[in-house]
Amino acid sequence: MGNGFVPVAALVDYELTPTAPPRTTADTAIDSLTHAIEAYVSRKASPFTDAQAIQAMGLIAPNLRCVFDQPENRDAREAVMLGATLAGIAFSNASVALVHGMSRPIGAFFHVPHGLSNAMLLPAVTGYSIVGNERRYSECARAIALAGATDSDHQATQKLLLELDAINNDLRVPTLAEFGVSKASFDDALELMLEQALASGSPANNPRTPSADEIWQIYQQL
Ligand SMILES: [Fe+2]
Repeated sequence: MGNGFVPVAALVDYELTPTAPPRTTADTAIDSLTHAIEAYVSRKASPFTDAQAIQAMGLIAPNLRCVFDQPENRDAREAVMLGATLAGIAFSNASVALVHGMSRPIGAFFHVPHGLSNAMLLPAVTGYSIVGNERRYSECARAIALAGATDSDHQATQKLLLELDAINNDLRVPTLAEFGVSKASFDDALELMLEQALASGSPANNPRTPSADEIWQIYQQL
């Protein structure tokens, strides 16, 4: 990547976002939450990126429903945009993981917006990955205030999984079929999608490193 792709400055202004369509708001917000979670559980995470990722989760997750249901809520907009920016800095250094690796081919083949394909994958990939680093996923649940000091790591991760499903439900994330992708066209693309997901390098950052067969199984769950 050349310097031409790297911005010199970014203007981050939530005042510009209330007129974004609700779907765009939801998809970009879940994408940002995914950046924070993946940066935190990534094999390339560091204390520097952890601080940003944890802060980002605490800002984004509790405000997701509000920015979707109340586009004019300025406090929620500000929190999500600040969280999204922190999450972006976190994953620029810690990288992303299996959700993004599997998401890009869905976008390329079926023109599903990036954040939306991440949202479709986030619960299933998290469910698969938790055993790779239960402690880190439990800390995600605590950062989002889903779990407290009396919850075991296992209980905390189960609450995280339930919340990711509930977010998709509340933000009306469609299934691939509801989005208009037929089972036949998905099956036709599956082999190449698998290849591209693995070639992206992102699955190698995942706390549980998937085989091609496991990626295939997660795609089947969608
Ligand atoms: Fe992303």
